[in-house]
Amino acid sequence: MSHPIIAPSILAADFANLEKEIKMVNESDADWFHLDVMDGVFVPNISFGMPVIEAISRHAKKPLDVHLMIVQPERYVKDFALLGADVLTVHYEASTHLHRTLQAIKAEGMKAGVALNPHTNVSVLKDTLQDIDLVCMMSVNPGFGGQSFIKNTYTKVKELKKMIEEQGASTQIEIDGGVTNKNAAQLVDAGADVLVAGSFVFKADDPKAAIKSLK
Ligand code: DX5
Ligand code: ZN
Repeated sequence: MSHPIIAPSILAADFANLEKEIKMVNESDADWFHLDVMDGVFVPNISFGMPVIEAISRHAKKPLDVHLMIVQPERYVKDFALLGADVLTVHYEASTHLHRTLQAIKAEGMKAGVALNPHTNVSVLKDTLQDIDLVCMMSVNPGFGGQSFIKNTYTKVKELKKMIEEQGASTQIEIDGGVTNKNAAQLVDAGADVLVAGSFVFKADDPKAAIKSLK
């Protein structure tokens, strides 16, 4: 079994000690930083925005995977490119002209991601899959860390994996929400390439060991 990419979600970090938390991720077996931007409109919660990401990018030594949970994400593509985002993910449910937004993300030199809410069927991506570098499959309802993993995700991952193989696409599958070392292996078996983990990593007594246990 190949090792998944591990992307700790900074949403669960101690914001009063962000430099220390970033250093921990830099020194760990993690591969990316997952940064959750929430606007209080697309999701009920508000997290952090540009100045915090700018500060993180000054210390982070690994790629920044930015997950936008905001309405009209196309308005900010250039801003996040300038902040140093390597992957920029927009929600399918928040994008009226998804294809255009994906092209705009790629034109700025970033990988283009699309996130799907738990209620959204993977089939909606059939006609854009060739243009998507990463699908962020939400395994909780977006807006908060620390929620329980929705088991139907396994079925959705398998469906998406099949669609990717049928189309010969190179899209990566990312799982976001409620990921722990109890479901990681089953998710990778089902076809997941990237595992996001917030609470499981940052609330652990030994975060570096928690990251290792997800590999
Ligand atoms: C939820 C966010 C997730 C969140 C995951 O809306 O997109 O990235 O931080 O947190 P855990 O791993 O605690 O479910
Ligand atoms: Zn996320």
